[in-house]
Amino acid sequence: MHTIIEPFRIKMTEPLPITTRGHREAALAAARNNVFLLDAEHVTIDLLTDSGTGAMSDRQWAAMMLGDESYAGSASWRRFEKTVREITGFKHIFPTHQGRAAERILAATRLKPGDIVPNNSHFDTTRANIEYVGARAVDLLAPAGRDLYSNKRFKGNMDLSALERLIETEGAKNIPFCMITVTNNMGGGQPVSLENIRSVKELLGKHGIPLIIDACRFAENSFFIREHEPGYSDRSLLEIAKEMFSLADGATMSAKKDGLANIGGFFGCDNDSWAEDFRDLLILTEGFPTYGGLAGRDLEAIAVGLMEALDCEYQRYRHATVEYVAARLVSRDIPIVRPPGGHAIFIDAAAFCPHLTPSDYPGIGLVNALYLEGGIRAVELGSVMFGKPAASGGEIAAPHELVRLAFPRRVYTQSHFDYVIEVLDLVRRQRDRIKPYRITKQAPFLRHFTAHFAQGEIEAKRGA
Ligand code: F0G
Repeated sequence: MHTIIEPFRIKMTEPLPITTRGHREAALAAARNNVFLLDAEHVTIDLLTDSGTGAMSDRQWAAMMLGDESYAGSASWRRFEKTVREITGFKHIFPTHQGRAAERILAATRLKPGDIVPNNSHFDTTRANIEYVGARAVDLLAPAGRDLYSNKRFKGNMDLSALERLIETEGAKNIPFCMITVTNNMGGGQPVSLENIRSVKELLGKHGIPLIIDACRFAENSFFIREHEPGYSDRSLLEIAKEMFSLADGATMSAKKDGLANIGGFFGCDNDSWAEDFRDLLILTEGFPTYGGLAGRDLEAIAVGLMEALDCEYQRYRHATVEYVAARLVSRDIPIVRPPGGHAIFIDAAAFCPHLTPSDYPGIGLVNALYLEGGIRAVELGSVMFGKPAASGGEIAAPHELVRLAFPRRVYTQSHFDYVIEVLDLVRRQRDRIKPYRITKQAPFLRHFTAHFAQGEIEAKRGA
């Protein structure tokens, strides 16, 4: 059979708001042209994030009824711990309320001002938590990953020679740990090969630097390895995931992605003294170590969800959905990052809007056009999210102006995605009308969440 079907049927439905253009114009104006500030009830297809937005299975809902809400030592904790240990093999496992809580405690307990943490690409909260304690987050993505259009596989791989140079120039003692993000969200959701993780681990091992995996999308990464890395096509996703974690000294995890849950996360590690420091701060800020800021029922949902994410049929359908949309966007001349990632499609907004410069924030223009045209919510990953103040005044633009269409898990059907394709096609044909935006209000960090924008007028592109 060529047709890959959703390996589930739908038992419960949730109405989608169908809105008019006038309604959307008023909603976006009230949200100061920032889709993060929209009320979700004004959004028809919400592709803002794949985080915590998935649909749980009947098994997960059933497991939640078994939630043991004891403060300490609950049966739900035991089931959670057993599952996480089976997948990761870590000696110490700590639940947290989401991924960034694990990052924050890891950064606070292991880093001091001036330290350096390399990663293929830091997610924004990971970077912010590292920088918050005065350390430096360095991205060392291999060159193929920086080329948006190369069809190479494993474009999330780390640049080994850059890592080697960094260790030589900065000194291993100033690098308390190195991270690898699977899949590489900030770099187009691209996977990392086991071969690359193994080589990174070998290099770090020579210098005594621990490796921490940012494991949010570990199951999607495992599927990419099964499909595209030689020698893995007959291995189960669980076996591949186990091999991946066996190369790491620890992992931070947001269960809102491949935990198929709406909230939750964890940190795991082997080192006893790391665990002790982590536990102390966890108790102070998240909760007792057997619940870590979660309800017993959340632990149950995650324990079931982690294993469902490792079901090959589920991953086959999920990846087929992303590829289905990607192929149709490419055939309509919509510039997207290739090959498509595991959880999202990333549109090159700079190429989509050739009449705009980075300082016009083309990503915001495209995001807002998608909302106004079809009630679709996407997110900018460009100079609003990553732009930096320049010493001379003004701003240093981000390396790319991307817009991410993230795919919530098990939520939208093929006709929803056909609609997304149609809206994008329409927006592309009217792209000359996409206006520049400027920021009228912003916070000192993570400004994209709360900034206010105003529309400007299109000027002739500099140098054009
Ligand atoms: N690491 C990566 C690679 C992520 O993508 C995220 C979250 C986190 C860490 C933090 O996890 O949200 O549970 O605290 N990514 C979401 C996104 C928010 O939309 O990509 P969290």
